Amino acid sequence: MAESAKAMAPRLLLALTLWVGCSPCCGREGAATQPRVRCWASRYPIAVDCCWTLPPAPHPTRPTSFIATYRLGVAAQRESWPCLQPTPEATTCTVPDIQMFSIVPYVLNVTAVHPWGVSSSFVPFVPEHIIKPDPPEGVRLSPLPGQRLWVQWEPPQSWPFPEIFLLKYWLRYKRHGSARFRLVGPIEATSFILRAVRPHARYCIQVAAQDFTDYGESSDWSLPTTTSVTLGK
Ligand SMILES: *[C@@H]1O[C@H](CO)[C@@H](O)[C@H](O)[C@H]1NC(C)=O
Repeated sequence: MAESAKAMAPRLLLALTLWVGCSPCCGREGAATQPRVRCWASRYPIAVDCCWTLPPAPHPTRPTSFIATYRLGVAAQRESWPCLQPTPEATTCTVPDIQMFSIVPYVLNVTAVHPWGVSSSFVPFVPEHIIKPDPPEGVRLSPLPGQRLWVQWEPPQSWPFPEIFLLKYWLRYKRHGSARFRLVGPIEATSFILRAVRPHARYCIQVAAQDFTDYGESSDWSLPTTTSVTLGK
């Protein structure tokens, strides 16, 4: 490996400490004025998207802008590139070029430029580990004879290559008035037939997507889809 493990360890530890203290963009306290950064890959392997917030300052001094850069590897001397921001004031950026299965993590450096100075946060990430697809789309239900319900959906449009980077799915459903969801999955197709659904009952159904090889985490659940007509007798 190019990195010296000894030189890398303290920096990585620092970075990981910052990472752990950093919760999704509107989370808990972090270091005093450093941006709290979160990155995720809902369009793997095209790009990684990041966003950040600043903790409320005792004397509110809005930063005038942010500088977001990234490099591949933890060593500071490595070349860095801009993480693309729509504007310097924006609190989001995109790492536009992902090297897949890199053995060293990417490190994002988000620097807030205040009137009185700058403060930086460093966030390491491995793209495969932060995969989180968007929820599946177009969930629809069709009653079938024999008390069955056909559930169909599409992969999220934001997932660029569903034929190459396969997704699997989870389905959860519950009868109207019932407290608990039942979970079905993983499903390696974009449809599923629920059997023995109760006639005259209404069902609420949601679907989630996950990388086929279990990298990262599952998507959020799709918005609930409900049976609009009572099902066949
Ligand atoms: C982080 O980015 C800021 C602004 O570009 C730069 O001044 C600083 O040197 C960077 N820090 C590291 C460790 O790369």
